[in-house]
Amino acid sequence: MLKEKYPDRIEAIFAKYPDRRSAVMPLLYLAQEEYGYITDGALVEIGELIGVDPTQVRSIAGFYTMFREEPKGKYWLQVCTDLPCALRGAEEFYQKLLAELGVEDGGTTADGLFTVERVMCLAACDKAPVLQCNFHYYENLDMAVIRELIAGWRAAAAAEAAASAGQPSGDGDAG
Ligand code: FES
Repeated sequence: MLKEKYPDRIEAIFAKYPDRRSAVMPLLYLAQEEYGYITDGALVEIGELIGVDPTQVRSIAGFYTMFREEPKGKYWLQVCTDLPCALRGAEEFYQKLLAELGVEDGGTTADGLFTVERVMCLAACDKAPVLQCNFHYYENLDMAVIRELIAGWRAAAAAEAAASAGQPSGDGDAG
């Protein structure tokens, strides 16, 4: 439960919003950080915290693309394939990225590391191909650059997994 695990953070959030209902966005971020996506339980928890019905919380979470309503990969790659970006090669880049990771449109890799989705304009049309990974922008991409990024994300995930298992991180498992 969020309120048991993060009482200080929740208190700090509420301190910023005299009307608790206004705290719904930071609480959704907190829930997503904790659970990986906005679970049904999180909707109930947040609803109780701010005094609104969980269906209202769901409607807010559903409105914003930054909230995940289902499990996603650790690295959530959202590629803009909207028209201006498509004219700069974004669709071709997207298809190559899917092939590189061996997933279908909107799919998640078998190891759970990457979810690849297309999204509408990310307001970086002049820097296409562009994607956001967990809300960090990567612009002017090509396959050489994205392969390096993927290798880095895999290495980071492996190091994190090794650290949480209490082992020294190994390398050579990035490909
Ligand atoms: S159309 Fe792709 S960022 Fe605007």
